[in-house]
Amino acid sequence: MHRFTRMLSRELTLTDYLGDSSFSPAETQTISALARAGAGIAGVLARGKRAAFSGHDNVHGERVRDYDVIANDLFVDALSQAPGCAGVHSEELVEPLRTNEQAGELLVFLDPLDGSANLDSHGLCGSIFGIAPVAGGVSAAALQTGQGLLRAGYFLYSSATLLVLASRERVDLFLYDPALSSFTLAEQDLRCPSQGKLYATNEARVSNWSSPAQGWLSELKSTLTPQGSLHYSLRYTGALVADAHRVLLEGGVFAYPGDSTAPRGKLRLQYEANPMSFVFRAAGGAATTGQHSPLDVEPTRAHQRVPLVLGSKREVESFERALRGG
Ligand code: F6P
Ligand code: MN
Repeated sequence: MHRFTRMLSRELTLTDYLGDSSFSPAETQTISALARAGAGIAGVLARGKRAAFSGHDNVHGERVRDYDVIANDLFVDALSQAPGCAGVHSEELVEPLRTNEQAGELLVFLDPLDGSANLDSHGLCGSIFGIAPVAGGVSAAALQTGQGLLRAGYFLYSSATLLVLASRERVDLFLYDPALSSFTLAEQDLRCPSQGKLYATNEARVSNWSSPAQGWLSELKSTLTPQGSLHYSLRYTGALVADAHRVLLEGGVFAYPGDSTAPRGKLRLQYEANPMSFVFRAAGGAATTGQHSPLDVEPTRAHQRVPLVLGSKREVESFERALRGG
């Protein structure tokens, strides 16, 4: 019997779950703080008007929406109250922030509001996080590879508010229950199917892709079922969290490779690609830059971009093969 099955006769809250001895006190404090902020963001979004521009751009030159600022503030406030959290490396902060560098043990990599452009029309968005040891101080730790991650996951703000939390070899899904003011365990040990039926990509950009990548996609799209109809469908929301979550559950592939206008791709290594790659690896899926796992990329900058293809093993491996020329 699985270690949590016994407890599911009643709702298992995130607090119960974190009581398991595999979570250190610092991890428990940090994940609890992330959950408080995620619930807070869901509440703000549920009451919210369409996004407005805050009037400034972020470190990537993107227009910052008011909700990006609110989400970042909620996470930073919550994490500042977690003694085990030494610092936060956020998409919305130019430099990694020290919250409790003296006593804290962990660094949180954070995309506070992924897909926030969708809020211009009340669309899907989420928050992405990775948790790693802070050895060597906050600034140095922000440049570690994703192989150092201890836990990672994301919130999805959708018809329900979800928390997907990954440890090295296991991924669990929690739903926020406003009546209990807490997340409760809803699905255990998610496994990404070894092959799927959907692909998620910004197809308008495909003419800028390398010819091996273009060839891979056109071959994927011409795959037939045994009955002779087309195997794949395109599903794309423009929010990494939402697109990747669907691929995680149903199988298939999300692709944002490098292209002629952005050879390094668009997505950010430390707080987008790495946490999502960690989740997919833990669920039996895969992720690649085209050459190797994003988790193996040595960052040279705090806000680094990386090509990212993730999903079912079969589709991700076929992308790598195509880029190798075979
Ligand atoms: O955070 C960057 C992001 O919004 C991701 O959530 C999403 O996958 C991607 O950019 C969408 O980019 P595009 O608008 O080019 O399709
Ligand atoms: Mn993002």
